[in-house]
Amino acid sequence: MKVLFVCDEKDDWNYYRNLFAGNFSKIEVAFSLDKEDALDKLNFEGPFALIIVDASLKGEEPSDIADAVVEIAGERPIMFIGEKIHISSRIRPNLYEDNDINEILIKPFQPEDFVATVQKGLEWVRQEEFEQSIIELDRSEVLPMRIRNFYLFDKVPYEVYLELTSTKFVKVLGKNKKYSQADINAYAKRGIKQLYLFKNEYLKLLEEGIKKVVFVLKQKNKQSPKVLMAAQIKGVLLVHQYIKSVGVTKSLTELCSEIIETTSIVFRSYQKIKTLLNDFPFNQYDTAEQAVFTSYLCEAMLCGLGWASDTSRKKLGLASILYDSMLTNEDLAKIKALDDRNLLMFTEDEQIEYKEHPRLAAEMARQFQGYSDVDFIIVQHHERPKGDGFPNRLTSNKLTAHSCAFILATAFSTRLALLPGEQGNHLKVFREIKTLYNVGNFKEPLDALQRTTF
Ligand SMILES: [Fe+2]
Repeated sequence: MKVLFVCDEKDDWNYYRNLFAGNFSKIEVAFSLDKEDALDKLNFEGPFALIIVDASLKGEEPSDIADAVVEIAGERPIMFIGEKIHISSRIRPNLYEDNDINEILIKPFQPEDFVATVQKGLEWVRQEEFEQSIIELDRSEVLPMRIRNFYLFDKVPYEVYLELTSTKFVKVLGKNKKYSQADINAYAKRGIKQLYLFKNEYLKLLEEGIKKVVFVLKQKNKQSPKVLMAAQIKGVLLVHQYIKSVGVTKSLTELCSEIIETTSIVFRSYQKIKTLLNDFPFNQYDTAEQAVFTSYLCEAMLCGLGWASDTSRKKLGLASILYDSMLTNEDLAKIKALDDRNLLMFTEDEQIEYKEHPRLAAEMARQFQGYSDVDFIIVQHHERPKGDGFPNRLTSNKLTAHSCAFILATAFSTRLALLPGEQGNHLKVFREIKTLYNVGNFKEPLDALQRTTF
């Protein structure tokens, strides 16, 4: 457990640190000098079980800090420490008089008073954790949701569970209880990729997420490119989950069309892939991030070739969103081809899933109205110029120019995902692509990619 202590008397830190070390050896204490630093820590270094605020803070209102804590991290115990005069003049009485979980400690105090007050706060947290104890759920009643979705919200109207075994779960987010980004980060850091919701609630949450992303993307002419690219990634993440559990609906079609329309507007503000890459919010290099980046490479090629019509944009835009949508194991999105030796590290089922994913995604594309030939483009995204790709081993003269452009874009994104964050990685990737694809119908889009990348 962690405790956050907001105190601008740095000389006192050691005294408190020793009090904790001597009485609560398993508690980690983080100190903040001011509100701004405290809120940063709450957001990114938490979760914190208890927050302690010095009532004599200079230049800050201790009550404001308490309000901000609840705003960010939800209800949790806050302890105010200070002389009587500071407690009575600077802490709003409702923060401790009518509040069962907050505590005050008046200076001067004895170490045992400090220990007892801290203990009270921690007891509340332990009780909360006890309520979250392990329960048995029928696996067929719940669905896994990627953990990244929870960054879209700060509370959800449903209970959210973490899987312990195939039947045992523990509640990690309570209904309508606020949580912070740090709470989610803490799970992500433990390698947890998904949390579980009851089926109908899972669908409602996806739909709420779709509404949120559509709302941001509709402001494409006002929002910054960075915000729009991040929203596109969140949108694709939602598409990939929604399409597998529900299929193609009106709200999904609207989300896809907003994602596609945003690409050309954002690309216009960069003009080159190299400059766009500096701002592109790559983080996990997963299917959603690769999909959005692929759509920018397609847009770049379409502009470079002078083919940037609405029809072409829709074709390659939808293909970009869907091509790897049927991969359930994210790590398969980093496999380059069927003969990639890393594929052998996956289970037999996953290897079959990989072989089948272009065809399954193409089937999904056919269900969208108002988009033509997207299924052909998707099914061909792993074909290669010499006919050693899959599933149909087509050679470059059998592939349309749109397909060739799309194959180049997906090959680029996958390779980039294998060199995360390296300086000049786009240059390395481009060189590799050029040696493999500079033939037949690939030549023209490759030239266009070169012109619009650098
Ligand atoms: Fe793929």
